[in-house]
Amino acid sequence: MDNKERFLSLCAQVKRDGMDELLDYLERSDFYTAPASARFHGAFPGGLLQHSLNVYDELVRVLQAYPEIQVPEESVIISALFHDLCKVNFYKVEKRNRKNDEGKWEEYDFYGYDEKFAYGGHGSKSVYLLQNYIKLTPEEAVAINCHMSSWDGNKDVGKAFEQRPFAWAVHVADEAATYIKES
Ligand SMILES: [Fe+2]
Ligand SMILES: [Fe+2]
Repeated sequence: MDNKERFLSLCAQVKRDGMDELLDYLERSDFYTAPASARFHGAFPGGLLQHSLNVYDELVRVLQAYPEIQVPEESVIISALFHDLCKVNFYKVEKRNRKNDEGKWEEYDFYGYDEKFAYGGHGSKSVYLLQNYIKLTPEEAVAINCHMSSWDGNKDVGKAFEQRPFAWAVHVADEAATYIKES
């Protein structure tokens, strides 16, 4: 099963109004080909899709370690797979030239930024885009909004994690995917 098939089979487990429209939107966007970042983790075509699946796998591990945190499987899938929806239509590919090992010039893909919809927040933008299609539970909305913890300049995040440990689990899963799986 390739990444897209796996992604779609997880989405098929989510029975919520608007899922079909959300998946149509993804199909029309660059979600399946976008990188996860321009320079750091997942800087290759499909990197965002890979990262989203990695966060799902890490989140399952974190939740196994903390059985106190109980959420429906749908929330695990939605929060992991769509936490970085804000990165859709955000990167652009430029062609650049470099000398290869043999001293010959070769063309390579270089990721730049071309933000078409600046929202003013990272997690908050993912929440906004998702809510255009599906209704999120408070648990999911907080988890996606706070997935960067205080890296996002969010000062209230400690309180959010205290009230909803699932949001903390999503944050840890995002870091585990980024710094362990993808480094
Ligand atoms: Fe993120
Ligand atoms: Fe992420």
